[in-house]
Amino acid sequence: MSVTVKMVFEGQTLELPVIFGSEGERAIDISELRRKTGLITMDPGLANTGTCTSSITFMDGEKGILRYRGIPIEQLARQATFKETAYLLINGELPTRKELNRFSVLLNDRSLVHEDMQGFFQNYPRASHPMGILSAMINALRSFYPELQTLKEEINMTVTRLLSKVRTLAAMSYKISRGHKVVYPRSDLAYCANFLNMMFDSPVRPYEIDEDVVKALRIFWILHADHEQNCSTSTVRIVGSSRANLYAAISSGMAALWGPLHGGANQAVIEMLNQIKERGAKVSWALEKAKDKNDPFRLMGFGHRVYKTFDPRAKIIKKVCHQILKKRKLSDPLLDIAMALEEAALKEDYFMERHLYPNVDFYSGIVLRAIGIPTNMFTVMFAIGRLPGWIAQWEESIHDPNWKLCRPRQIYTGPKAKEYVPIDERG
Ligand code: ACO
Repeated sequence: MSVTVKMVFEGQTLELPVIFGSEGERAIDISELRRKTGLITMDPGLANTGTCTSSITFMDGEKGILRYRGIPIEQLARQATFKETAYLLINGELPTRKELNRFSVLLNDRSLVHEDMQGFFQNYPRASHPMGILSAMINALRSFYPELQTLKEEINMTVTRLLSKVRTLAAMSYKISRGHKVVYPRSDLAYCANFLNMMFDSPVRPYEIDEDVVKALRIFWILHADHEQNCSTSTVRIVGSSRANLYAAISSGMAALWGPLHGGANQAVIEMLNQIKERGAKVSWALEKAKDKNDPFRLMGFGHRVYKTFDPRAKIIKKVCHQILKKRKLSDPLLDIAMALEEAALKEDYFMERHLYPNVDFYSGIVLRAIGIPTNMFTVMFAIGRLPGWIAQWEESIHDPNWKLCRPRQIYTGPKAKEYVPIDERG
């Protein structure tokens, strides 16, 4: 039996169908609304608007649940590799051993980038932010490796190319920014270890792979691999909806991720914690600023559009944070400040009334610092992790029979029609 919602407007009754998801979520289908009533809906920030159906990721913000293709994030973080997780998101199922081996071969074969691309890096101003560079480089890949997107096998080629080369490009940008020799990918190393080696190996000090560091990075990337229709993923879908190529869509997603309210928050958290440390301030200083409505300051790494309880990823990354510091016998004063800040915030009515809890970015920066990643590369690390999700969402959207060019509407509030005034007659 179909369920509908009745809407009455100017004496006209309209029945709008309700769509149900497999986990019981409900949406009013308004696709006929404007045609039948002349009305549109208004939803700044799209907080109440679904733009697609999707079978990739499920999250319940009230209960703090996150699942990729049905599998809880906790199980993936504990048992899966990042490569398996990427395969799962993109192909819908975990790979068999044979499928995983084939996937690994493809990733290895496509890990090198055209030598001419190094010229781009060399000519970027040294102070450029790595996110700006990476986003531009991903777009530039299209010129070196024409996109093939008709057959499944061709799409796979572009997809594995992107998944593999993004690591090489990110590590390359770091090496070149330091004026160091670029380290090439190695086929004997797995996905995470290969990236770490490209980042940190040097002719004067060979990089020793530390399994604890590899594990921390693996979990960090798995936790970031997808998060349904967030700002950057929606950007990828919107750009893809014009049938722009995959590289352009991913590059736009990266630009959206860069912002401090989204993926840039991991860098902003460390900057905030550093600010507290350098001022010798108490955490109450940051809390008071965050509560002050006349101050634009926000507690970075706190709050989330969907999670109104603990972000399940934050719980996992907090544990990883403690483990990696302990195993590497490191102490980080920023961790002490972060823990004190979290404890104090969770006692404040302001944060509790607004359901503001630590999100994944609150502790992830400290994990990345422990691995040795420079602060301005944090969002790049997030982008590498998010790539499988962006690809899966893009692929789902281009095959969705109901997917249309994204083109929202507006309510115009500007002047009514008026005459053009020649320049000499203007007052
Ligand atoms: N510090 C202080 N107050 C906050 C914070 C914060 N971090 N986040 C939200 N609030 C307050 C707002 O001022 C607002 O208060 P009001 O109702 O009195 O006006 C209320 O909480 C609701 O905030 P909104 O901005 O409407 O919530 P929204 O869902 O749009 O924002 C967001 C979510 C952008 C993540 C926000 O919580 C924020 O800015 N957090 C800090 C940045 C951050 O950590 N971003 C990473 C998110 S996770 C990710 O993208 C990977």
